[in-house]
Parts: sequence; C-alpha cells; structure tokens
Amino acid sequence: MVRFLVPAALALACFGQAPKKGSSPVTRSSFGKLPDGRAVDLYTLSNGKGMQVGIMTYGAAVVTLTAPDKAGKYADVVLGMDSIDGYVKGVPYFGAIVGRYGNRIAKGEFQLDGKTYKLPVNNGENALHGGLKGFDKQIWTAREANGGVEFTYVSKDGEEGYPGTLTAKVLYRVTPDNELRIEYNATADKPTVVNLTNHTYWNLAGEGDILQHQVTLNADRYTPVDKGLIPMGELRAVKGTPFDFTKATAIGARIDQKDEQLGFGGGYDHNWVLNGSGMKKAAEVYEPKTGRVMEVLTEEPGLQFYTGNFLDGTIKGKGGRVYQRRAAFCMETQHYPDSPNKPHFPTTRLDPGKRYHTVTMYRFSAR
Ligand code: GLA
Repeated sequence: MVRFLVPAALALACFGQAPKKGSSPVTRSSFGKLPDGRAVDLYTLSNGKGMQVGIMTYGAAVVTLTAPDKAGKYADVVLGMDSIDGYVKGVPYFGAIVGRYGNRIAKGEFQLDGKTYKLPVNNGENALHGGLKGFDKQIWTAREANGGVEFTYVSKDGEEGYPGTLTAKVLYRVTPDNELRIEYNATADKPTVVNLTNHTYWNLAGEGDILQHQVTLNADRYTPVDKGLIPMGELRAVKGTPFDFTKATAIGARIDQKDEQLGFGGGYDHNWVLNGSGMKKAAEVYEPKTGRVMEVLTEEPGLQFYTGNFLDGTIKGKGGRVYQRRAAFCMETQHYPDSPNKPHFPTTRLDPGKRYHTVTMYRFSAR
C-alpha cells in the first residue's frame, strides 16, 4: 500500500479548494511567513484529472506533486516539508529552482571577457547551486499566466558574485497529459552566466528508498568528475560501466560497486550528456510496485542524476517521514557543471539583448 503523504494542513491547502468548473485551474493559499515576516504563498495547479502540483513562492519550489499509480490512485511523489519553517531551517534544495548557476563552478571562480569573477565557495573548495543565498532561498513574485503560474526573481548585479542584473522567469504548467511543464526565461543587462534547473526529489513509490526504481537515460556519455565533483572535461562513454542506463536498470543494481566515479559521488551524482538536440526524451523512470512512470523531456544538453546520497535521516519531512539516504532521486536538467571554465562545453553565457529560454517536462503515467 502506498501511504498518502500529503499531511492534513497541506492537503487542505492543495485539495480543499478544488477549482470550480469553468474557473482557473490555479488556486492560491498562504504557506506561512519567513522569520522576517514576509509572506509565502502556495499555488496549486490542477489538470482536472487528479494531478495536482503545489508550488510556493519561496524558491519557486515544488512542494507536492500527485501522480497516478497503476490502479489510478494519485499520491504525492516528491520530498518536502509540512510548512515554510521546515524549508527555512534548511533543506538540500527540495523542489526549488536553483540559480543563478545550478551545479558546481570549480573553486568559485570564472572569467568573462578577461575579467575574473569570484563566487562564495560553499561546497568544499567549489561553488554550488548559486551560492550562500541562491534562487532557492529567495521569495519569487508570482502571477497566473498562460494557464499556469509564472514566478519571477530579479537577481541584482553582483549578487552572490555574478555579474549583471538577471531577470529570471519560470512558468509552471500542468497539462491534460499529466505533465509538469517548466519553461525558464532569463535576460541580463551585462554579460553573465546562467544555468537554471529544478531540484525536485522524486520517489515514485512515495516511501522507502529508490533503489528498485528502474531508470533509463538517453545518454551514451557522461562527464566524469574529480573528487570535488567537478567535471574533468572528458565526455566518457558509459558502455561497460555502472553509468550505462541506456537500458532500463534498477538504481540499486550497481550503485555500490567498487568504482572510482561512484566513490566520488557516494553513488550517482553525475551529469549525463544527453543524446540528440532540441526537445528530446532524457529519461524514463519506472517504479515496479506502484507501476508509476516518470518521463523527463528537455531542451537542455545535460542531466544531473543524483541519488540522494547526502540525505542522512536528519530531516523529518512531510507527515513526519524521516528522509533516509537514497530516499529520493533528482533529475536536474541543465548545462554541464563548471561550463564557465570549460570552453568546449555548451556555453552558459547570456548577453544583454539575448534571451535564455529552455523547457523541461516531467510526464507521469502508470503501467
Ligand atoms: C546536487 C549536487 C549534489 C548535492 C545536491 C544537494 O544534486 O550534485 O552533490 O549537492 O545537489 O544536496
């Protein structure tokens, strides 16, 4: 039996105000206040079929997402906290939009047009996920738009060390085909770097660890890393390694094999180089007990597949559930880590007058 993980308060916020026929599929409720008194709102998007996604203005983060199992039962499949207080106390990017630069930049340093920019170092000797107060810890403004909710955050010139004022807009929609569609847009007033992603932690069974989930990745290569998880620059073939997910394979099948790369990540925590270009299928995940399937489609060239190796049972999440190691996995669609220092990787540079635009979809079904 899959436990229904949405706690009472959240359930009311998410399900207590089902949109009336003909009205907008979006509802708004309060998700509490930050310690400084600023209000946090929770927007709930529904597709009228049972799929509901709760997204809050803090971090523009996905708080709940319900997906169907093979019996047609919808349940919450994402990690999160019961209230804003839990998020403020500190969570590893649960559900959040990560920016200005998702993933790592070596030694917190990069050059643009001959000038060196220094970023706060917050992950060993490297910069991770936008800094000490990245986009995941900011309040975004929200408005209903195009059948969904558009979240906006303006990051000032110099914030967390990055050059140029960046206006980031993220439009979330829930489609009739049970997809969460995320459209990212950004513009800047000076040359800068940008790499936005969503950091939702998935567990399609809604409980336990994710080792039985079967993963397929549309990638023949990945970017091997050093011990600080910075890509060494090589695009290495996955063939014959525990990184080969070209055929559906249980996450747990090889995760603890003796392998230098797995050792560095404590499991999977690597960027796969996606085959193809434009909008393409990046991944499919199948959970055998519930039959739930998640497909990931993206325009991004890379996918950070992270298996929750740093979760350690210290966070009590929704409904009091303790999040143990590997209680969830992330599929962060992105440009490759440390691209600003790797000229042969696809560029993450954004110039004034240009538009950063990229779409990722998470599609849910069951079999
Ligand atoms: C990303 C990183 C991981 C870890 C998590 C957050 O996925 O690659 O190493 O930092 O975020 O804990």
